[in-house]
Amino acid sequence: MTDSPQRIYLDNAATSWPKPDSVYDAVDQYQRHNGSPFGRGSHASGSEVYRIVNRCRQRVANLLGVSAPQRVIFTCNATDSLNQAIHGLLVPGDHVITSALEHNSVLRPLHDLAERVGVQLTVLQPNAQGVLSPDQITPAIRPDTRLIALTHASNVTGIVQPVLEIGEIAKEHSIPFLVDAAQTAGVVPIQFDESPFELLACAGHKGLLGPLGTGILCLSPSMAEKLRPTRQGGTGTQSESATQPTSLPDRFESGNHNVPGIVGLDAGVDYLLDRGIEEIRQQEEQALGQLQRGLSQIEGVKLIGGDDVPKIGVVSVTSDLYDPQTLAALLSQEFGIETRAGLHCAPQTHDWLQTTATGGTLRLSVGPFTTPQEIDRTIEAFEALHRSE
Ligand SMILES: Cc1ncc(COP(=O)(O)O)c(C=O)c1O
Repeated sequence: MTDSPQRIYLDNAATSWPKPDSVYDAVDQYQRHNGSPFGRGSHASGSEVYRIVNRCRQRVANLLGVSAPQRVIFTCNATDSLNQAIHGLLVPGDHVITSALEHNSVLRPLHDLAERVGVQLTVLQPNAQGVLSPDQITPAIRPDTRLIALTHASNVTGIVQPVLEIGEIAKEHSIPFLVDAAQTAGVVPIQFDESPFELLACAGHKGLLGPLGTGILCLSPSMAEKLRPTRQGGTGTQSESATQPTSLPDRFESGNHNVPGIVGLDAGVDYLLDRGIEEIRQQEEQALGQLQRGLSQIEGVKLIGGDDVPKIGVVSVTSDLYDPQTLAALLSQEFGIETRAGLHCAPQTHDWLQTTATGGTLRLSVGPFTTPQEIDRTIEAFEALHRSE
């Protein structure tokens, strides 16, 4: 596979690209010179893998403020983490508070439980600015509420939600709070143990800069005891027992690990710890500001989502001239600009934005390596496509 020299990648909300060079080097080095599984072989290569995987766990724990690395569980992606959290906690008849801003990786497991075992859902709508208000939480709480599950930032509008304030309300009522940090881990500072979150689901392949096929679930001490593993199988530990080990992290990590992915994630998180999340966030805010300012000047282009609210590096737009799919195709074919069109797996967000019937929005998402020149070229491409001849 070769890169097009003109390629401008603005789909970092789907998965980040490029990754730091150290990520490619670490994966290549592992694949060529090691290739052993984690926790299975009592040989030198296996010991090296054991060391790197646990170093990665420790680095993620340092980055996300988890004091005990064994409460950092490796998964396949944020969807896998969310499924483990939701299916591992809820039982028939439980009530859950969630929102219209959720990704299908929250909505579909909840919908499945609602259909099959009668879990009841309250779906909160954001205010006109695209923000969920903490004031909505207490009136929605019922005696049978067993989970509040909300996204940290919408993957459609990029708007960051007041999860700390909402979490404090959840804590007052002793209701576990699951935060979907797919879009924020590695981008917005999170101190898990100091926060009121009980479960934090992250993608390893977005802001944490690891390869695709990596994810993380952080557990509070109480969730580490209560949560049921949704998968059972070989862990390389307590093999004589027919039951799943109770120890962490093995209880939740059955089957061979995605070692190439975790080795790359280790390098990605090391890069983040070294460069600092604040610096990356500042750079992404600048790129987003430049993009929003430029696009807002173009007649026929409309920016979607609130103003004056905290955002990650994501902006959604619609066009008077093109539907989102056509616009994405033109940007890619004529200018080498890669974006994402459609509903972005968040259908209720588009219902709320009233963009469902018109094919959703076109989403542009910047990353830690997006340059001002790339943003200039993107604005020029939009201008060229919207220029009246
Ligand atoms: C808010 C949100 N949650 C969950 C996911 C699912 O992430 P993954 O692809 O790692 O399963 C995404 C992916 O785009 C997302 O944006």
